[in-house]
Amino acid sequence: MFEITVHLNATSNTPLYLQIYQYFKQEIQSGRIEEETKLPSKRKLARHLEVSQLTVESAYDQLKAEGYIQSQPRKGLFVQKVEYDVIPDQNAPQFDTTESPQISQKMKYDFHHGKIDLDHFPHKTWRKISIDCLNDKEHLLNGDPQGEFHLRKEISMYLFQSRGVQCSPNQIVIGAGTQYLVGILCMLMNKDSIVAIEDPGFHRTKHALETHGISIDPIPLDEEGIDIERLKHSSANIAYVTPSHQFPTGIVMPISRRLELLKWAEKTGGYIIEDDYDGEFRYKGKPIPSLQGIDASENVIYFGTFSKSLIPSARISYMILPEKLLNQYHQTMSINKQTVPRLYQDILCQFMKDGYWERHLNKMRTVYRSKHKTLIAAIHQELGKRVTVIGDQSGLHILLEVHNNMSEEELIKAAEKHNVNVYPTSIYYEKKENHSSPLLLLGFGGLSETEIKKGIIQLKKALF
Ligand SMILES: Cc1ncc(COP(=O)(O)O)c(C=O)c1O
Repeated sequence: MFEITVHLNATSNTPLYLQIYQYFKQEIQSGRIEEETKLPSKRKLARHLEVSQLTVESAYDQLKAEGYIQSQPRKGLFVQKVEYDVIPDQNAPQFDTTESPQISQKMKYDFHHGKIDLDHFPHKTWRKISIDCLNDKEHLLNGDPQGEFHLRKEISMYLFQSRGVQCSPNQIVIGAGTQYLVGILCMLMNKDSIVAIEDPGFHRTKHALETHGISIDPIPLDEEGIDIERLKHSSANIAYVTPSHQFPTGIVMPISRRLELLKWAEKTGGYIIEDDYDGEFRYKGKPIPSLQGIDASENVIYFGTFSKSLIPSARISYMILPEKLLNQYHQTMSINKQTVPRLYQDILCQFMKDGYWERHLNKMRTVYRSKHKTLIAAIHQELGKRVTVIGDQSGLHILLEVHNNMSEEELIKAAEKHNVNVYPTSIYYEKKENHSSPLLLLGFGGLSETEIKKGIIQLKKALF
């Protein structure tokens, strides 16, 4: 028998059979035990190592299962030629396994605007539909690059009823997130396009445009949304707007401004990208039709998402292309595979078809309306005139102007010391904001009403 020097450690947490297996694996991988070498029998090795035959058998079984050795009838066990397509263990680089630092530590009262209410999510229904969908093996295969047709059909019906959006399922492109879809859109744009963006505005869209080499022109806001006169004087041929709730200020664009915007697009032959990210949640006033719904000239590209209204992690967002862009989309983009897993699309489609989506939305409107009311009341009661609430018409967040002479950074740090996460707004401004006091962003979707009240009390202790 060739020399076997396994240093077995009976007190180790690693079972003996694994220690033997690891020893042989390493020796074979390194070539110290050569190909075609005959291994000692179970009995011999067990005696040599002073372990049970069962222990040796388990080690050999594992080596056999991984193809390191093979038994030849009536001859014994032999080392196999192994083709390595992975680096052997001993050469594996040492990776840093510590988690990368978070931007800010998560606090007990986290007013993050990307969070949703988990207590009212219909887990049971979602789980049941998920299991049903899992049973259909089709989801294991790639689906339609544009998104599953049956889901696009449900989305088009829902959008017509609730947002006045008029489109066929063929105009809908599903993708993993607004930022991703903006990127797809950039590939359809002329490279000399200039996109007017709201200032302040959604930083992720700006980032997507810039990384695709599209020029941007930040346009300030007035009390009705994007400043139309400034837009008319810019050389932009595309405008990205958030008319339902301007992000982050919450301004609801009145119908008159919407019509002016559409007129601008018609006159210049330009496009409007309408990002309707949380239009489902409106607590005051009458619904104002989407730009897409009142656009007679096919100049609006409508964006929607299930991130706010259902689950952010599902990454199901969509854009609606005007008919005149469809040909170009199919010619240029059909090479891209769909980015949203088919399983998630199937689950959502069934959820919508069975009427759960409508019920969920109705319930969430009530839940969020109540949270919104609680937040505003708590701010008035606890913080009074030392703050000003801005954008109290927004869906799932508000802005808080704090009059205590602290900078935005100081406010955030002071809040953290009292277990509260509040968020900056300076990241959304291109040109310096004209607010005399800093503005904080407070989302309320992920906190219960009790947590909202307690969080505001903590904020008072932190800031005043
Ligand atoms: C302005 C705006 N658009 C879109 C989204 C949704 O992004 P996504 O569809 O990538 O989740 C958000 C979410 O915060 C947003 O604030």
